[in-house]
Amino acid sequence: MRKAGPVNVPLRQAVQPRHKFAMTSLPSIELADEAATAALARRLAPILKAGDVVALRGDLGAGKTSFARALIRALSGADGAEREVPSPTFTLVQSYDTPAGRVHHFDLYRIQSPDELTEIGWDEALADGIVLVEWPERAGNLLPDRRLDVALAFGADGVARRASLQPRTGWTASHPGFAALQPADPGE
Ligand SMILES: Nc1ncnc2c1ncn2[C@@H]1O[C@H](COP(=O)(O)OP(=O)(O)OP(=O)(O)O)[C@@H](O)[C@H]1O
Ligand SMILES: [Mg+2]
Repeated sequence: MRKAGPVNVPLRQAVQPRHKFAMTSLPSIELADEAATAALARRLAPILKAGDVVALRGDLGAGKTSFARALIRALSGADGAEREVPSPTFTLVQSYDTPAGRVHHFDLYRIQSPDELTEIGWDEALADGIVLVEWPERAGNLLPDRRLDVALAFGADGVARRASLQPRTGWTASHPGFAALQPADPGE
């Protein structure tokens, strides 16, 4: 059986293109443990900027909060590793000031309808900074089209995870750094 790859493999090497035209999404990446999840989040952090939405998808316990926590710590600069980043399970949103601007971490699991987003500052958050959102499907059509979907899934052993990064409408064009993470087109 193939062992999980090392966590410090650059994305460019860690992924293989499915076919010549599948250049808009990265095939899934093996995450052997929580440290691997954090390492992936740290690689993504430098290309994020105000107005960005990262939608964290996946079942209960898939690792969405772990990913968001590592991302927030990476965006927080020098002291980030020490930063408390609680899950927003009950507060629904936690906001942070970082050198990359405001970061808003939502967990929409407990909302009943997208109408409730107004009360928890969804529009302001989108206008104001970087939005990381767990259970993004609960936002319905209030979820912006231009976003990065990060889908986390349990691996076959039930311990490791797999991540798939899927840029949606306009994301790749507005993030040249993200395109650089993708494998070279073998047809070129
Ligand atoms: N790549 C990984 N491999 C193994 N365990 C992981 C990995 N990533 C996260 N975990 C562990 O999985 C557990 C659940 O993670 P986390 O709370 O981030 O999930 P979640 O998707 O946010 O869950 P929820 O849907 O309840 O919000 C934690 O104990 C965490 O340490
Ligand atoms: Mg969570």
